Amino acid sequence: MNNGIPTHVAIIMDGNGRWATRQGKKRTEGHYAGYKRLKKTALYILDKGVKYLSVFAFSTENFARSKEEVGYLMDLFVKAFHKETSFFVDHNIKVLFSGRREPLSDEVLKIMDKVVSDTKDCTGGVFNVCLNYGAQAEIVDTTKKIAELYKAGRIELDDINTDSYYHYLYNDLPPVDLMIRTSGEIRISNFMLYSISYAELYFTSTCFPDFDEKEFDKALEDYQKRNITKGTVK
Ligand code: IPE
Ligand code: IPE
Ligand code: MG
Repeated sequence: MNNGIPTHVAIIMDGNGRWATRQGKKRTEGHYAGYKRLKKTALYILDKGVKYLSVFAFSTENFARSKEEVGYLMDLFVKAFHKETSFFVDHNIKVLFSGRREPLSDEVLKIMDKVVSDTKDCTGGVFNVCLNYGAQAEIVDTTKKIAELYKAGRIELDDINTDSYYHYLYNDLPPVDLMIRTSGEIRISNFMLYSISYAELYFTSTCFPDFDEKEFDKALEDYQKRNITKGTVK
């Protein structure tokens, strides 16, 4: 944290479907509205001085949704990342992805790899998209990665500790300072379990397509009022 601005913010972008159905629209229209909102709100958050923004775009569990909805979302990822690659470059934003590659299609993987490669030298903030992401899977995958490195003689057991563990996660990012969930659900849903150990949690009933600049400012104000001690005396 620096000047009251959290270094790493993570958002569970929930409520797209309900936002749409409440207005008599299709759930997929909610996902499109969520994408448009994300573009504006993410830029605002990074402009405020937040260095790392992680967003939950699609969970491993979300593959259990209808074929139509999953298909729409995969299509939207491909179109949106194609369209926004220059937006990220113009705003100097480095894009990363967290999650398993299997069973994403080659088309989705190709655009993910392109946007990562095109933005790799950007220095104005990191936008970490959690896509086909599950935190338990991340911990399992990280454990396997560490075991392989150990087996190959590239690390010692003493190299592994609670701080160095971050280095082996899908991306080497600092711990989350502020975790936001929209739409009124008060649970974690398998999101960034290792990294949110000491995060301040903020829940709002606002659905993600309505989570605008003012809504983020409310979360930030709430965060700044808290007495953050991380295990030391108050
Ligand atoms: C979050 O909105 C976006 C994704 C999970 C892809 P939902 O689609 O979960 O919307 P609700 O929770 O059904 O309203
Ligand atoms: C979490 O939302 C995943 C994303 C926001 C992408 P869900 O809507 O999938 O979570 P549950 O099923 O309500 O826990
Ligand atoms: Mg939901």
